[in-house]
Amino acid sequence: PYSIYGDMASAEVRAFILLALCCCQGSEYYTDKEEVVLWMNTVGPYHNRQETYKYFSLPFCVGTKKTISHYHETLGEALQGVELEFSGLDIKFKDEVMQTTYCEIELDKAKRDAFVYAIKNHYWYQMYIDDLPIWGIVGEADENGEDHYLWTYKKLEIGFNGNRIVDVNLTSEGKVKLVPNTRIAMSYSVKWKKSDVKFEDRFDKYLDPSFFQHRIHWFSIFNSFMMVIFLVGLVSMILMRTLRKDYARYSKEEEMDDMDRDLGDEYGWKQVHGDVFRPSSHPMIFSSLIGSGCQIFSVSFIVIVVAMIEDLYTERGSMLSTAIFVYAATSPVNGYFGGSLYAKQGGRRWIKQMFIGAFLIPAMVCGTAFFINFIAMYYHASRAIPFGTMVAVCCICLFVILPLNLVGTILGRNLSGQPNFPCRVNAVPRPIPEKKWFMEPAVIVCLGGILPFGSIFIEMYFIFTSFWAYKIYYVYGFMMLVLVILCIVTVCVTIVCTYFLLNAEDYRWQWTSFLSAASTAVYVYMYSFYYYFFKTKMYGLFQTSFYFGYMAVFSTSLGIMCGAVGYVGTSAFVRKIYTNVKID
Ligand SMILES: *[C@@H]1O[C@H](CO)[C@@H](O)[C@H](O)[C@H]1NC(C)=O
Repeated sequence: PYSIYGDMASAEVRAFILLALCCCQGSEYYTDKEEVVLWMNTVGPYHNRQETYKYFSLPFCVGTKKTISHYHETLGEALQGVELEFSGLDIKFKDEVMQTTYCEIELDKAKRDAFVYAIKNHYWYQMYIDDLPIWGIVGEADENGEDHYLWTYKKLEIGFNGNRIVDVNLTSEGKVKLVPNTRIAMSYSVKWKKSDVKFEDRFDKYLDPSFFQHRIHWFSIFNSFMMVIFLVGLVSMILMRTLRKDYARYSKEEEMDDMDRDLGDEYGWKQVHGDVFRPSSHPMIFSSLIGSGCQIFSVSFIVIVVAMIEDLYTERGSMLSTAIFVYAATSPVNGYFGGSLYAKQGGRRWIKQMFIGAFLIPAMVCGTAFFINFIAMYYHASRAIPFGTMVAVCCICLFVILPLNLVGTILGRNLSGQPNFPCRVNAVPRPIPEKKWFMEPAVIVCLGGILPFGSIFIEMYFIFTSFWAYKIYYVYGFMMLVLVILCIVTVCVTIVCTYFLLNAEDYRWQWTSFLSAASTAVYVYMYSFYYYFFKTKMYGLFQTSFYFGYMAVFSTSLGIMCGAVGYVGTSAFVRKIYTNVKID
């Protein structure tokens, strides 16, 4: 019997060699009468897109044809719960098949109940022909919900252009009432039609331009863009004016004698010059977070660029495979930023820092996946990650991510690990004066995320919809613009927050700048609750935990990324203003 998990480990190795060579399995040319494989993928409730089961977990019957050419699964597919199984249908290129019965279901009570359950939950299934997805509905209930009917006749219409398949349509016919202890004949037919669709454009019919290129989408980008211009203008204006005034005040003070100086209004950010470059509290965690954030940023950037160049949506699981590959390859970025920051803050246990930095994100993702996997296994969902795949992921962490991180850390410590701050750090920390409630770091942190969230939340709607509903995201140019806008807004907002904080003579700016940017994620996670309850019809323990689990992972990663971007921008700003000021 054929099993796609046969020889899993070697399939993973092959998947990796394929990935490493960036090899794309591309165009499929057929000769007349060549075998065309219809793969059955998954079946699941319509409203829970990510809750999928093997097609043959429902008591469908398999066609008579047994032999097929082999199929190898990639890592991305395994993680995304793709479960291709051969349908057993005999389909040959350009070979018409009239309505033919391919098997019969002996409908006993248990099988009937399984079908009725599936029909009640609006199950539908997915199949693939030559990498083109096809969807079909399992069955239908009548209005009063007493009788249930199964669609038994799959009418396939396949369009070809030259020697390649460019279009597939499925029509479900042959409604048969589900009555226990009967036999139900399943049939299919195949019609071949010449089509003018170009092979390169064959996925276009799955895209939804009227959704993704809706006025709202353009408008929101335009809106955020205006916000950026406004914010950048505002921030630079405020800072120019205030800083110029501050500098003027400080240099005037230098000319005054001691008496005047004591009476003069000595307050503001210059007062904390002996403390701003004091290491943050918990430098180990802090530098690991910054390193990971820089890595997430580079991964997002590279993956979006790749997706803009290549149409990743045309290949099952290729987006995830690319992301994992890029994540592993950008590990030196993590090591570099984390390691150099830790060295600058005078940290000595750099090996421990490197381990924390390297495994922070993988541990978070794998921990969530592990937890959800338990539920998936309990439900026998195809989402359950196979053991071989888990081993492969652990191997990547240990043998690729860790060594590359080590390289980055060593480079970072040696190239930019010197704490060459413009001001000396005083031996004794200055007490932090009392201030107004809205100058407290906690308040600044909460407020800091509002504007960055405002600039991305429409995009979040599109991204969520493509992941949790049946839309294929393909407008990566928009996503890139939003990423750039998000970074600019985040940096502007954290700079303003930090300026206020330092002016209140509070020098704990490192964590505050990180957290005020990272609080964007809290708003995104709250938005995901709104999205769940008002925009989707998901239900059930499995889908709910899957949704909130992975949304938490997504939000946390986004938060760490924003935090790191905010911190990097702010630290450049802080360094700049304290370089220009003359310290007596
Ligand atoms: C599939 O359906 C679409 C829309 O109804 C039609 O334009 C197209 O020609 C059909 N393709 C085939 C191969 O029948």
